[in-house]
Amino acid sequence: MKIINLNTINAVAPDRIAAGEEAAQKAHQLLASGNGKGADFLGWLHLPSSITADFLKDIRNTAAALRSSCEVVVVIGIGGSYLGAKAILEALSGSFDQISGVKPLVLFAGHNISEDYLSELSNFLSGKQFGLINISKSGTTTEPALAFRILKKQLEAATGKTEAAKRIVAVTDAARGALRTLADKEGYKTYVIPDNVGGRFSVLTPVGLLPLAVAGIDIEKLVAGAADMERITDVSANYLDNPAIIYAVARNELYRQGKKIEILANFNPKLHYIAEWWKQLYGESEGKEHKGLFTASVDFTTDLHSMGQWIQQGERSIFETVISVESPKYHLEVPADAEDLDGLNYLAGKRVDFVNKMAEKGTQMAHVDGGVPNIRIEIPELSEYYLGGLFYFFERACGISGYILGVNPFDQPGVEAYKKNMFALLGKPAK
Ligand code: PA5
Repeated sequence: MKIINLNTINAVAPDRIAAGEEAAQKAHQLLASGNGKGADFLGWLHLPSSITADFLKDIRNTAAALRSSCEVVVVIGIGGSYLGAKAILEALSGSFDQISGVKPLVLFAGHNISEDYLSELSNFLSGKQFGLINISKSGTTTEPALAFRILKKQLEAATGKTEAAKRIVAVTDAARGALRTLADKEGYKTYVIPDNVGGRFSVLTPVGLLPLAVAGIDIEKLVAGAADMERITDVSANYLDNPAIIYAVARNELYRQGKKIEILANFNPKLHYIAEWWKQLYGESEGKEHKGLFTASVDFTTDLHSMGQWIQQGERSIFETVISVESPKYHLEVPADAEDLDGLNYLAGKRVDFVNKMAEKGTQMAHVDGGVPNIRIEIPELSEYYLGGLFYFFERACGISGYILGVNPFDQPGVEAYKKNMFALLGKPAK
């Protein structure tokens, strides 16, 4: 089966997809030629095919050292320096791994400024062998810097400075930023986030690869899936055979028709953080110049019992993009019951996934009937290879989509506004 199967038939009429070809091909050419806005940040475009086996081996060796010395590894980062690894980890881990004693346990910090979160994490780490992966491209972001300062001190107090330095890895800019200065001074192992890869496009750099390798994820397969998708979505691909360009065209067409919100829906809770990653990717890339789809997400069938009402009958300013996973990892059938008091015997012998798939079908029909266009993205299974392909697909489509919209998809000037106010309120000294 294909890495992904994209179906836009319930969202945009084929003649509108055809009508969008010229503008979309122009946008894609702009991306591929490096002549568009923000072209200094296109390092992700050919990243999968340029990653070498030696590079992955080096990452695996660093991960193996952390795995052997640590019961817990805390990954510190925010935004693009956190969400990709978190998303893939959640999708590929067991739902109860965190409480079933998997080692090393990979936890995250630096993605909030909660005193409670940091205190509870610090208490949890107390008495445990732990290590830190500190990720910040700029090396100056407040949230991860704060978490790192606290956890580094705890680690040094527990193990001494020399051992602590062996258990800390920094992923940051090659030359600039406070984290680079600190890492060089303390002698931490470091990895570089390439200058030309922005945070939200950095999952296939050490930003995502190192934490995932620590968690035991097969990073070779992840990269292989992304590299295959890089080929499939190349600018030379036939228009209708290129899922990235068609997705970009469909969502821009719906936006022009007045649909202002794109809801990414899933029917498997393991995909929850993939939606968080996707929201950042598209929200931060396109939400500027008072334009851009608002990106939202729901977990079905859970949210059919909450936001399902709004989606079915609320304001008609939305469309849905559903990620559907064809085969679950396990096989579980509904058992028969002699008394059948719950009335479920009509499902006896059927797989739980069959019930879920019928819920998916029924929901799609109801939402389309209710005026919610539906884009469908199918992947065969949750595995490294297919997720690598899915993530690259979304990145490439995002670049094309941003250029169709006419914005620079690779900057995020709006993120500075809250920081400016926060620093003034905190009395941060001017440099
Ligand atoms: O996509 C982006 O550029 C942002 O989300 C950043 O990843 C985020 O702000 C974290 O920045 P940094 O890695 O510099 O700490």
